[in-house]
Amino acid sequence: MRANESVVRRFKRWSTETFGFSFETGTTNLTAVLESHAAAARTDPLTYVERLEGGAPVSELRALAHALTVTETYFFRHREQFTAFADLATALGAERSRLRVLSAACASGEETYSLAAMLPPASAAWGAHVLGADLNLQALQKARLASYSVWSLRDTPAELRDLCFERAGDTFRVRPDLRARVTFEEHNLVDPDDRLLTPERFEIVFCRNMLMYLTRDRASDLVRRFAKSLVPGGYLFLGHAETLRGLTNDFDLLHTHGTFYYQRRGALAHPVTAQPRPAVATPAAPPLATEETWVDAIGRASERVRSLTHARAPELAAPSPRVDPEALLLEAVELTHQGDVDAARERCRALLDLDGLNAGAHYLSAVCDEAAGDLRAAESHDQTAAYLDASFAMPRLHLGLLARRAGRLGDARRELEQALVLLPHEEPARLVLFGGGFARQQLVDLCRAELKACGGSA
Ligand SMILES: C[S@@+](CC[C@H](N)C(=O)[O-])C[C@H]1O[C@@H](n2cnc3c(N)ncnc32)[C@H](O)[C@@H]1O
Repeated sequence: MRANESVVRRFKRWSTETFGFSFETGTTNLTAVLESHAAAARTDPLTYVERLEGGAPVSELRALAHALTVTETYFFRHREQFTAFADLATALGAERSRLRVLSAACASGEETYSLAAMLPPASAAWGAHVLGADLNLQALQKARLASYSVWSLRDTPAELRDLCFERAGDTFRVRPDLRARVTFEEHNLVDPDDRLLTPERFEIVFCRNMLMYLTRDRASDLVRRFAKSLVPGGYLFLGHAETLRGLTNDFDLLHTHGTFYYQRRGALAHPVTAQPRPAVATPAAPPLATEETWVDAIGRASERVRSLTHARAPELAAPSPRVDPEALLLEAVELTHQGDVDAARERCRALLDLDGLNAGAHYLSAVCDEAAGDLRAAESHDQTAAYLDASFAMPRLHLGLLARRAGRLGDARRELEQALVLLPHEEPARLVLFGGGFARQQLVDLCRAELKACGGSA
């Protein structure tokens, strides 16, 4: 029987309440799921939803969890994260003589076994263990079987393939020594009563490509619970395109091994590998082709900001308490304009202490670093800003200009092309603040001209 719109809305509300899904990714056909599950229960959609709202039996919850989740995964997905994991696990495990790792939202276990494969040899003495947790019981059953097709190994290098698997025809079975270091459990991670995330239980948590399916509130709750379940100084890895921006202040953002990850606040960073460093090694830069730097451009923007804030909200223009992040950012913009790069950097640092995941502060730090001649730090801050907010055009444009200046034309083209994609959608307020006084179209024209100068087609 067909489900009408209001019943589908109730089903959606129940699913969001139960599993935390926002359904914003548009990958689920809720109407089809509702209609097919109501039919399988031999009832109409409305009665089916009413039953769910009255308390669904576990078997129905499991069936819906399976129907509503995306379980796409493969071994060593984003390998750089596993390389970082291996080094961090070595340092942290040695320090604590203990290493418990959570592979949250592990799907059919490829990530969980990949983590086990990267555990340092010494970790056997620490009782190192990887726990895979997921909502989808069918996926977990596949994980426990530990047998995979070659498709799951599509990004596994040959040496790891030989090390981690026993081959039987077309099937690859995870070796017994790795299986012995892994267990799998069924958990609904957004359920606050769930017993998985007890205080300081884990040294390292991977939760990749799952937060993106949740509503902001549920994602934020879950991240807070991850923070508590980590030891101070423990690490959290998210999916390649996910960030904690706007979700929490419990973590510092780190960048090593060409990847971003987070460290729970409350302990010193581990000196061996966890020092933030830029992903791109920048050769010494030739002098700027033009007289104007981005500091001059930002300066013009800050005049506009000042006139706007004076005109519209005099209280914003008054001396502001330093603890207000927005006031700090505006101060940093103004100081940059005045050419007081040291003071501007100091404001940015203060702001990043308050909110290390503030993309604007990272971008402005990049601008200040460029003015101070530290192009390597400038690129690092731009990359962090772009990672924290994938829709932020200005760090892409700035990265393009920096790369061109350094003679890396391929990098410059890539960044400028990305900036050209993002600029038409950039938030107006951000253009005013960071756009160097240029209007949107002028920035697009600048980007095109730069791209052309780098040999790209604009
Ligand atoms: C795309 S897979 C990610 C697999 C793996 N982490 C990776 O990145 O390759 C997303 C997984 O999140 C799980 N998931 C979604 N919501 C969940 C919840 N509320 N509790 C536990 N797992 C959940 C799904 O069942 C699915 O297996």
